[in-house]
Amino acid sequence: MNGIELLLTRQSTANLTTPAPDSNALDTILKAGMKVPDHGALTPWHFTLVSGDGLAKLSHIYTQAAKINNANEAKVAKVSKMPFRAPLIVVISSKLTTHEKVPAQEQMITAGCCVHAMQMAAFALGYGAMWRTGEFAYDAYVKNQLNIKEQDQIVGFLYLGTPVKQLAKKQSKNYNSFVSYLT
Ligand SMILES: Cc1cc2nc3c(=O)[nH]c(=O)nc-3n(C[C@H](O)[C@H](O)[C@H](O)COP(=O)(O)O)c2cc1C
Repeated sequence: MNGIELLLTRQSTANLTTPAPDSNALDTILKAGMKVPDHGALTPWHFTLVSGDGLAKLSHIYTQAAKINNANEAKVAKVSKMPFRAPLIVVISSKLTTHEKVPAQEQMITAGCCVHAMQMAAFALGYGAMWRTGEFAYDAYVKNQLNIKEQDQIVGFLYLGTPVKQLAKKQSKNYNSFVSYLT
C-alpha cells in the first residue's frame, strides 16, 4: 500500500478480535506514533499499552468509575465489557509542558496526531483500529488509575486487533463544501 492509497482508504474497524498486532507490527505502530509533527519537539504524549490481564484491570477501573458516578447495574455491566472489544488498547494521553511558544492546544493536537498515525500504521499492516473516547476519557478516577496527571488528558483509546470481517469500503466525503479559496 503506498502512502496516498493509505491516506485515501484508511478507515476504522469497530469489530476487532485476536490476534493483536504482533511484536514487529506493534513496534512499527509505536514508531509511527512517535513520528508526528511536534512544535518545539516537546513530545507531549504518553502511550499506555493495555493487553492480557490489563484488559481485566481496565474493566475493573471502568466498573469502579461507573459506580462512583452512581451508574445503575445495567450500565456497570455494560462498561465492564468495553475493554474486551479488542485484544490491545493503546491509551494515548497528553503530557503537557508549559512553553512560551507552544500552547497546550498545539500539544493536544500533536497527541491527537499520534493516535491517527498509529491507526494508519495498523491499517497499512492489515490490522484494524478504532479511536474511541467516551465518558471515561474525561473521568478523573480513570485518569488517576492510569497514572495520568490532572492537567493532562486522555486523547484516545486506540483499540487494535484483527478485523472480525472484511470491511466494506466507505465512500470518501467530497471536499467541495469544506473548501474556500483566497486568490
Ligand atoms: C477524538 C475522537 C474520539 C472518538 N470517539 C469515538 C467513540 O467513543 N466511539 C465511536 O464509536 N467513535 C468514536 N470516534 C469516531 C471513530 O474513531 C471513527 O472515526 C468513526 O467511526 C468514523 O469512521 P472512519 O474512521 O472509518 O471514517 C472518535 C473519533 C475521534 C477523532
